[in-house]
This record gives sequence, C-alpha cells and structure tokens, in this order.
Amino acid sequence: MKNIVILISGGGSNMAAIVRAAQREDWRRVHGAQIAAVMSNRPEAGGLRFAREQGIATDVVDHKAFASREAFDEALATAIDARQPALVVLAGFMRILTPAFVQRYAGRLLNIHPSLLPAFPGLHTHQRAIEAGCRFGGATVHQVTAELDHGPILAQAAVPILPDDTADTLAARVLTQEHLIYPRAIAQLLPTL
Ligand code: GAR
Repeated sequence: MKNIVILISGGGSNMAAIVRAAQREDWRRVHGAQIAAVMSNRPEAGGLRFAREQGIATDVVDHKAFASREAFDEALATAIDARQPALVVLAGFMRILTPAFVQRYAGRLLNIHPSLLPAFPGLHTHQRAIEAGCRFGGATVHQVTAELDHGPILAQAAVPILPDDTADTLAARVLTQEHLIYPRAIAQLLPTL
C-alpha cells in the first residue's frame, strides 16, 4: 500500500478535499494508496478533528516543544517515517522546512501554494497580487525543493481578480480551486510512485 501522510497547521480544508477524493475515487483499489496519517505542528489545528472523524490516524509534533528548527524537523521526520510514506503532502503546513528534511523526502514531497508561482512566493500572496494590479490570482501544486515555494510545478489554477476583491474574497475564490487541483495532482502522481 502506498501511504500518504498529510501535514497541516490549520483548518485543513485541502486535506479534507484530498481525503474525500481518496474516498470518492477509491484510491485504495485504483491506486493501492491510502491516507495513512494526518499530522500537525499545532495541537489545536481544526483539521485534526475531521481526520479523526474519518478514522485516520493523527499525530501532533508541536514545534513549540523544540529548541531549534533542526530538532523539530528531526522529530517530525521520525513521526512521518513511522508511517512508511510513499508521499508526504503539505496542505497548509506553515513551517519552513530544513534542507535536510526536504532532501530526505526528495521526489515525494508536495506543497500547495496560494499564488501562481513563480509569482509571490512567501506570505500574504493574495494581498500582494491585488496590490500589484494582477488580473489573475491562483494556486500552484509543486514538488518541494530546498528553495522556499519553488520546485517543479505539477498543477495550477487561475481565477480572476475582481475590482472590489479583498485578500479574503480572493483567498476564498482561490481555495475552491485548490480543493480541485490538489487531489487531482496527487491522483496523477500516484501511479509513478
Ligand atoms: C491554503 O490556501 C494553502 O494554499 C495555504 O494555506 C491555506 C491552508 O488552508 N498554504 C500556504 O500558504 C503555504 N505557504 P487549509 O488549511 O484550509 O487547507
């Protein structure tokens, strides 16, 4: 079985979209793949509850309990490796990962970023896109490499930026597209793993 581990920090709506797609499209039978665990660096992350309700194992590795980024990443990697993952999926996981962590999962570590990369890596993507006068915003699914929010692009979705958009209204429009492209990109990748 190809184990998928999903890392979240917050509401976990992308994670939920992936879990629902795996159920709806029967990834166990079709891809020999399952969501093996959902992990969070925040004990209070809302998505943990959804995962538990779905009968998915959850782990919390609280970054505040570690003195350094390296120590946190080491503990996180230990938890991840216990699930023997074929794929590690960052879904609103708001921690910068060390090069050693990224290297360890090279080729099987995905992220979704709420902009049309390579535009607007980093934070506050929607506000920055509006301020730059962009006519389109969007989201990108990409392989994770050592450089933040870079790495080979697997999927993108674009949405229009409307004249009266705020960062919040644009984020909501982009998020609906994230929920479509992330499960689809994973399903396309699974046969290659
Ligand atoms: C999503 O919009 C995702 O693209 C973004 O956080 C949100 C998480 O929402 N990720 C990043 O900004 C990564 N740097 P969710 O918890 O509801 O999936």
